Amino acid sequence: MMNDDIEKIVFTEDQLKAKVAELGRRITEDYKDAKEEIYCVGILKGAVVFYTDLVRQIDLPVHFDFMIASSYGNGTSSSGTVKILKDLDYDIEGKHLIVIEDIIDSGTTMNYLMKYFKERKPKSVKLCSLLSKPSRRTADIHIDYCGFEIPDEFIVGYGLDYAEVYRNLPYIGVLKPSVYA
Ligand code: IMP
Ligand code: MG
Repeated sequence: MMNDDIEKIVFTEDQLKAKVAELGRRITEDYKDAKEEIYCVGILKGAVVFYTDLVRQIDLPVHFDFMIASSYGNGTSSSGTVKILKDLDYDIEGKHLIVIEDIIDSGTTMNYLMKYFKERKPKSVKLCSLLSKPSRRTADIHIDYCGFEIPDEFIVGYGLDYAEVYRNLPYIGVLKPSVYA
């Protein structure tokens, strides 16, 4: 079973649920008087589990949009280049953008995407990331809504993958070294 590949649990389902509720409350409070439309932009595929939980904790009318950006191959370190495999469906000019990401690691992906979004002249752009690994950062990224800061450890679950597997684990954990071998 998938559970057998996990060495330790980093965040339980309950911890994730509480954090997502807290982030949803903060976003609701911050945008409750917004006059322009709010677009929640999820970065696929890693953010999809967090995204679907988070948007249900935002008590405001929001639009859904998604991008697919890739900076990683099937390994555990960044390739340094970012490819846009799926662009936004909507024109975001004049809208409030909330970018929803699973994890900011080196920051390469988000650095690229933030420039890309800002060129499209939204009214505002904020970043919400469930996780952040500050010790790995090479790009200067401001996270407006950050769930947890974590050490430099490769984790899986709750949307995060290793070689495209383990995204459907309901918690976040560290893989046993034997899985990589
Ligand atoms: P960055 O461009 O280095 O910030 O990488 C961001 C992307 O790398 C994330 O959206 C994830 O897809 C992936 N990533 C970074 N760290 C991890 C991890 O610990 N587990 C799984 N994926 C990760
Ligand atoms: Mg990702």
